[in-house]
Amino acid sequence: MTELNQTALKIVSNGKGILAADESTGTMTKRLDSINVASSPENRLIFREALFSSNGMENFIGGVILFDETIKQSTKSGNSIPELINQSGAVIGIKVDAGAKILAGSPEEKVTEGLDGLRERLTEYYKLGARFTKWRAVYNITEKHPSELAIKSNAHALARYAALVQEANMVPIVEPEVLMDGDHDINKCYEVTAKVLNECYKELKLHNVDLKGTILKPNMILPGNGSKNESRTGEIAKMTLKCLKENVPGEVPGIAFLSGGQTEIEATQNLNEINKINDTNFALTFSYGRALQQSALQYWGKNQEDLVNVQEIFSHRAKMNSLSTLARWTENLDKINIQ
Ligand code: 13P
Repeated sequence: MTELNQTALKIVSNGKGILAADESTGTMTKRLDSINVASSPENRLIFREALFSSNGMENFIGGVILFDETIKQSTKSGNSIPELINQSGAVIGIKVDAGAKILAGSPEEKVTEGLDGLRERLTEYYKLGARFTKWRAVYNITEKHPSELAIKSNAHALARYAALVQEANMVPIVEPEVLMDGDHDINKCYEVTAKVLNECYKELKLHNVDLKGTILKPNMILPGNGSKNESRTGEIAKMTLKCLKENVPGEVPGIAFLSGGQTEIEATQNLNEINKINDTNFALTFSYGRALQQSALQYWGKNQEDLVNVQEIFSHRAKMNSLSTLARWTENLDKINIQ
């Protein structure tokens, strides 16, 4: 087993998943504005440090994705954030893309930038303790989109990124996110996701990326959030698994879903249903941002001195999602009494 394959498996196996805490400063400011907390580097650290030092980390979180600001911060007691995460046993990850920018040639779509100087930045992040990375591409569904141009240019960038990351001895998370926005049905999401995944793996192979040393972070197959036709969790699970089986090469060790705007319970329940019918060798787990943090963040907005319960709420969500990776979650187990 190669070192990269081992690292990937450590992050996604044994009932563990990923805490995506890599919101850019802009996104984190939006989240903090919504709970009326000033978005200062200190406040961003207080909330994140609370999550990273909670009980839930040790048993349920295999990896944490950080933003550049956070990987360089230290706690009041003098530990660096990478030290704090290492103590929990989780692997340190870092978001390395520079964001999704308007795609010249198809200005209603986005292409993710950040390849310039990436080799040098990766060396720096490795020294800071990072052993895996993230790059996110986004695709909008409309009647005309995503265009072939958006699908091809994002796949090319993802593959160049992944090859550079493996060269630097880290595991790349490949994240092609087909967004939930729109009134399309679940079949449309399936069709677009299949095309996007196919192109990504074509490019990853062309760039000689060792798929055993990667993790895929995809969207689940869902109807658009403006769609009139609701889908049941059983249908979502079936279509998601089918799409992955048909379009992701078997060498990929782990698939960690993004939550993408689902509620906390939806994200947990859908992951549980997917694992109930998982007949593949993929470890199927979570790499959630909002679906792990939302309740904890809301509580913190109202009770800023009570970090203990912020940690309890987060640990509970981590545990529930861990149960879902083992297909052992139930609605009853999810009831918690902190308001
Ligand atoms: P959400 O789970 O909130 O979609 O965030 C995951 C993520 O890291 C998106 O890049």
